[in-house]
Amino acid sequence: MSPYNQTNLREFMLIGFSQNMHICFSFFISLLVIYILTILGNSLLIGAVFVHPKLHTPMYFFLCNLSVLDLCYSSISAPQMLLVVLSRKKTISMLSCMLQMNSGHFLGSTEGLLLAVMAYDRYIAICFPLYYTMIMNWKMCQHITAIVWIGGFVTSVVPNISKPLIFCTENKLDHFACELLALLKISCGNIAQFQLRLFIVSLFILLAPFVFIVVSYILIISSILKIKSSDRAKAFSTCASHLTVVSMFYGTTITMYMVQTKELSSMIKYIALIYGVVTPILNPLIYSLRNNEVKHAFIKIFKSFYLLGHC
Ligand SMILES: *[C@@H]1O[C@H](CO)[C@@H](O)[C@H](O)[C@H]1NC(C)=O
Repeated sequence: MSPYNQTNLREFMLIGFSQNMHICFSFFISLLVIYILTILGNSLLIGAVFVHPKLHTPMYFFLCNLSVLDLCYSSISAPQMLLVVLSRKKTISMLSCMLQMNSGHFLGSTEGLLLAVMAYDRYIAICFPLYYTMIMNWKMCQHITAIVWIGGFVTSVVPNISKPLIFCTENKLDHFACELLALLKISCGNIAQFQLRLFIVSLFILLAPFVFIVVSYILIISSILKIKSSDRAKAFSTCASHLTVVSMFYGTTITMYMVQTKELSSMIKYIALIYGVVTPILNPLIYSLRNNEVKHAFIKIFKSFYLLGHC
């Protein structure tokens, strides 16, 4: 197949959606509700951190970065899925598709690295509480954040652009959106080479952070077991909420990108929904429901809205 054929391909057909109108409608409503809650929850969390001086700590700034990532991530895929699922013509232009795939890959990689940084932050806070403010100082946090965002970009968009996927005649994507693995399946270049590259990048972006997080939490938990039982519950609950997000994210992405088997291949679009749609809404939920300081900040925001409405 000649790569010059790619000029014929102007759009992709998204054939992942069901043919059944009822299923499509339920999908639309569920996705709409989750998307609105994601936008509300994450915006509220970002607002709370900036408004409440008590939340001006590294942990909450990292959490804020995570919320920004989640807002962007759901906004590049959910509105497009909402538009396509109810329309008769289930197509997406080549340009939108490439933009969606690259930004999704970039935000996903950045999230993988950021979650590891957040585990490191908890590790220092719990295992070296006396040195915490010295180690996680303002400059350090900004450097770490810059490295995370640049690292996400360099490992995703840079290779995708320097050696782009080639498409010939096949344009049917068995997915809800433009996602790298689905596109890889219908591309016609040297697929094995792309798969190898993706695997190597995933070692650094997914497996290494995951191992790092597991080790951090083993150290954290062994340290918690040594402290007084009254402080234990609080430390455990902070860790538990972080671990929930972490296992959802890495569980699904590592399964998708590193365990590529035939049986999984038809499931990929559903697994992608878990980390693309469910995890962005979990972050604000888990952190706000389990955290009194965030709750107080939320109440403060609501009160000021209430007062504004009455003046
Ligand atoms: C991201 O984290 C950095 C460093 O902690 C912080 O300065 C910045 O305000 C955060 N950005 C957002 C949007 O939360």
